[in-house]
Amino acid sequence: MSQPGDRPEINALLTEARVFEPTNDWKTHARVTDPGVYEHAAEDPEGFWEDRARELEWMRPWTQVLDWQPPHAKWFVGGQLNASANCLDRHVRTARRNTAALIWEGEPGDRRTLTYFDLYRQVCQFANVLKGLGIRKGDRVAIYLPLIPELAIAMLACARIGAVHSVVFGGFSAEALRDRINDSQCALLITADGGFRRGQLVPLKQTSDEALQGAPSVRNVIVVKRQAGEPFPVHIKEGRDHWYHRLMQDAALDCAPEPMDSEDMLYILYTSGTTGKPKGIVHTTGGYLVGTYATTRWVFDLQDTDVYWCTADIGWVTGHSYVVYGPLQNGATVVMYEGAPDWPNKDRFWDIVERYGVTVFYTAPTAIRAFMKWGAEWPAGRDLSSLRLLGSVGEPINPEAWMWYHEHIGGARCPVVDTWWQTETGHILIAPLPGITPLKPGSATKPFPGITAEIRTGAGVPVEHGGGLLALTKPWPGMLRGIYGDPERFVKTYFSRWDDGVYFTGDGARRDAQGDYWLLGRVDDVLNVAGHRIGTMEVESALVDHPSVAEAAVVGRAHDIKGQSIAAFVTVKEGIKAGAGLMDELKEHVVRKIGAIARPDQILFAADLPKTRSGKIMRRLLRDIAEGKALGDTTTLADPNVVRRLKDEYEADES
Ligand code: PRX
Repeated sequence: MSQPGDRPEINALLTEARVFEPTNDWKTHARVTDPGVYEHAAEDPEGFWEDRARELEWMRPWTQVLDWQPPHAKWFVGGQLNASANCLDRHVRTARRNTAALIWEGEPGDRRTLTYFDLYRQVCQFANVLKGLGIRKGDRVAIYLPLIPELAIAMLACARIGAVHSVVFGGFSAEALRDRINDSQCALLITADGGFRRGQLVPLKQTSDEALQGAPSVRNVIVVKRQAGEPFPVHIKEGRDHWYHRLMQDAALDCAPEPMDSEDMLYILYTSGTTGKPKGIVHTTGGYLVGTYATTRWVFDLQDTDVYWCTADIGWVTGHSYVVYGPLQNGATVVMYEGAPDWPNKDRFWDIVERYGVTVFYTAPTAIRAFMKWGAEWPAGRDLSSLRLLGSVGEPINPEAWMWYHEHIGGARCPVVDTWWQTETGHILIAPLPGITPLKPGSATKPFPGITAEIRTGAGVPVEHGGGLLALTKPWPGMLRGIYGDPERFVKTYFSRWDDGVYFTGDGARRDAQGDYWLLGRVDDVLNVAGHRIGTMEVESALVDHPSVAEAAVVGRAHDIKGQSIAAFVTVKEGIKAGAGLMDELKEHVVRKIGAIARPDQILFAADLPKTRSGKIMRRLLRDIAEGKALGDTTTLADPNVVRRLKDEYEADES
């Protein structure tokens, strides 16, 4: 494992840190204005979370806030509630019933607005559709949709009847979809004829048909009609496939929400780890809802008048927690946009902010760096004066990008909240509270009230100030409850680095003299490419699956916009000619196996891969080569010539 690397721009800032104190307006009008919340929550974290939980609607109260048998946590034990009732029913009983829940815009420019009552009705109807197709509490339902309202409707309908949703990002390949369906034995798949991306139709139904050839657990498929007619013919398999709109026509309007135990499963979401096989992260109901509800409210300072836009696709955890469950529990008005930020022009996002009067905007550093590259004239050409708060998530934000975001998008008046969390944590764990926390460009600042983090050495010694591994020392409500079907991997991945029941995040971080956290990136073999998590082993497995490949090693390489890009070192089998043709073929092979997000930027053919005497591939060395750094100590290498040859070949490839 590598040690957390230094970020030179952070070191510079640490010596001369620029601090943005909350303005008087924020100090007096924010949702949270009492700086004492940190201390109070630290004294009694369970009491803190219990207070947040009381703001939700429970069908039966809990008898115990937390039952912690490391590494297994149960929150709000004995309580019963329903996620869809907390997102919908609670609001349709108030004046909120007629306010916009979703303001949706498709990439081609089509628009739909659903009030809370509209959304409630459609969710109830679709819940009845699912029941009609035999879906019961505990059944798994796969969802493979573009970013359209039906995606949120499908998730909430599953939650309403107690079915477990497993959303698969629409950019994943047929094989990736099939593996995910099979891993959790989904009984039903919800997809669409297609979705739009950069003016192209993504043929989701065709990809689904391919995936389903090896997924016998799926008995029914529901197809949303996103696009009228061609260019991709949609084949409807009699008896298995059903059009969404036809089923909805006949569906009854009311559906009572299923009482769910606080610890009943809400969803599974697959994410990459350090092996070739993605992990099905399991989230349950009560704690997850409380965590997403409270963090959305406090970090984004949600007020009734806000128009809130998180640009993430719902296929990732950010979309689950901060497009669907967090904001809807808060009764917020949520903007959803289907397509690319540069389609048809590079100001599409700013056009949307202006058109709908977006007030809270949440995106990823990779997008911000792309905006910087495109130029400040794009946002400057639109009226962004409605914005009052900006958020960042998914990867470390470099101070330069933070400052640009603050100035050119936020007009130097909006606080920027950098939010650190993971698929596994369920909700934000480290982030400022805009009314009370001083901001530092590049720092996620402090753990949310009720959360305790620590920087540790590999051996588990706490580091008060300085760098090390980021650890979470106490359980939190939205934490993952397991890896679907693999309890051992859960313990091994997150709770075996130290033996005191402390969660290992996989991230390196630094804490400064004021106790603020600066995230440094992953320290394991997980890459973060444009804010998406990709396991090196997954890409390696895809490459060695190709008949011409003998061995492959994949590393991340610093990239100006994407944060990291994928570099693959490949050795070919005897008699195979390595050249540009094969390079393209291998890139396409990875896309076919995983999806376009995993396409290697660079493939380097090597005669051999550098290994230690025990046969382990020396990734750190490959990373150095990929980034063009001088080679470090190679005395542990079995064959030092291999390294020299690799470096030479790499440089030749670059030039
Ligand atoms: O390395 C951290 C990085 O993204 C990882 C989690 O990825 P994923 O589960 O896909 O969830 C992404 C959205 C929450 C973390 O281990 N990461 C996420 N947010 C930040 C971050 N790194 C630095 N700063 C952040 N704000």
